[in-house]
Amino acid sequence: MQEHREHIHGQWSSRWAFILAATGSAVGLGNIWKFPYITGENGGGAFVLVYLGCIALIGVPIMVAEIMLGRRGRRSPINAMRFLAHEEGVAPAWQALGWWGVVAGVLILSFYSVIAGWALAYVVRAAGGVFNGMDGTTAQTVFTELVQDPERLLAWHTMFVVMTVVVVSRGVAAGLEKAVRWMMPVLFLILLVLVGYAMNSGHFMAGLRFMFAPDFGRLSLQGVLIAMGHSFFTLSLGMGAIMVYGSYLSRRTSIMSTTFVIAAADTSVALLAGLAIFPIVFANGMPPGAGPGLVFQTLPIAFGNMPGGTFFGTLFFVLLAFAAWTSSISLMEPAVAWLVENHNVSRVNAAAFTGIVGWVLGLGTIFSFNVWSGEPYQLFGKTVFDLLDYATTNVMLPLGGLLIAVFAGWFMRRSSSMEELGIGDSRLYRGWRFVIRYVSPVLITLVFLQLVGILRFN
Ligand code: PFF
Repeated sequence: MQEHREHIHGQWSSRWAFILAATGSAVGLGNIWKFPYITGENGGGAFVLVYLGCIALIGVPIMVAEIMLGRRGRRSPINAMRFLAHEEGVAPAWQALGWWGVVAGVLILSFYSVIAGWALAYVVRAAGGVFNGMDGTTAQTVFTELVQDPERLLAWHTMFVVMTVVVVSRGVAAGLEKAVRWMMPVLFLILLVLVGYAMNSGHFMAGLRFMFAPDFGRLSLQGVLIAMGHSFFTLSLGMGAIMVYGSYLSRRTSIMSTTFVIAAADTSVALLAGLAIFPIVFANGMPPGAGPGLVFQTLPIAFGNMPGGTFFGTLFFVLLAFAAWTSSISLMEPAVAWLVENHNVSRVNAAAFTGIVGWVLGLGTIFSFNVWSGEPYQLFGKTVFDLLDYATTNVMLPLGGLLIAVFAGWFMRRSSSMEELGIGDSRLYRGWRFVIRYVSPVLITLVFLQLVGILRFN
């Protein structure tokens, strides 16, 4: 029956088109906005090391599994899981995994588009020359003025949601492929320019040491969970985004090698962003743990003091918004694909509906930085934004990923996964299967158990 299940939303024109789209999904705010600030908050080197370990031992194998399940299921995650569960003769309840992803996707979208709105706002500031000659204090003031104004945040958030809805309504392939094709290389180049600036800041070594000299004394258990959660977030795993992209992938493409390319691109962008940011942090005597504003309070200083800074700064924030755009599209796609398949609605209406839900929920994040930032509006000392971010990134995505690993490793027949991966009973296949059965699920479980205090190693 597997052969008869054709894709109904279209298909990528080539392997490269898929790599570009999946890299577009992976590379986003997670790499440039989030990675540096959580690295800063969690003490640097040891955190980065754990994060890299999670990418290799959890992220990459689960990405292989997720693409594989998507391509074999050929439908939105909910229906793909239903088909696959049927085909493998296991409980139909596995489709709950798809539901889990749809919910996580919309929740992430709600705060993602608010932060992407910051990037849009910074395009205007950069182009208007606001960064010229900027120092640490002004950079902080400019950022604070933005986030303390709910109306401005709302306007940018609205604009970003509309941008996302427009692209998603037009279908997966149209536009997306072309945009990502030039955006990624240029983003890479600008990051290199920024790293070049950071090298001359006089504090490059301090930045390098902060990021790569591990001091495990500065990494808490929470930090380990955050590193693991981020490995899912940054690779867009655990919620069906990569699964739904995989469902548009041609049968002939090698999933393994494609995954390596995507993971390598994603990791290098994050590390470059860190290398650009931390030297500036130290050169200006800022705290590395400044939180979500870190990128917005550091890079403008670099742009404001380098030749051609207005141009580079504008281009950088345009690209950051773009990178966020190609990611938010994939956050919406599992929900939209499902609405189109099961409820016979047009893509346009499905995208608009999903967008509206994300937009409304986004208000909570907007207010987290101003009118709801205070004590009475917090739970466990966390704002709505903190809670959403924590619940999705550190709980929902790893749990989704755990279930994907368990399904692909234990419930799917060996012959099925071997056939789908198309590399025969090779060492690579056996290695992947071992990791997906034993290593990734055990590691995820251990981190969770440690955290709830059931297991204590120290
Ligand atoms: N990977 C994106 C980033 O790093 O910015 C965020 C993301 C996109 C997470 C899609 C999850 C997802 F499904």
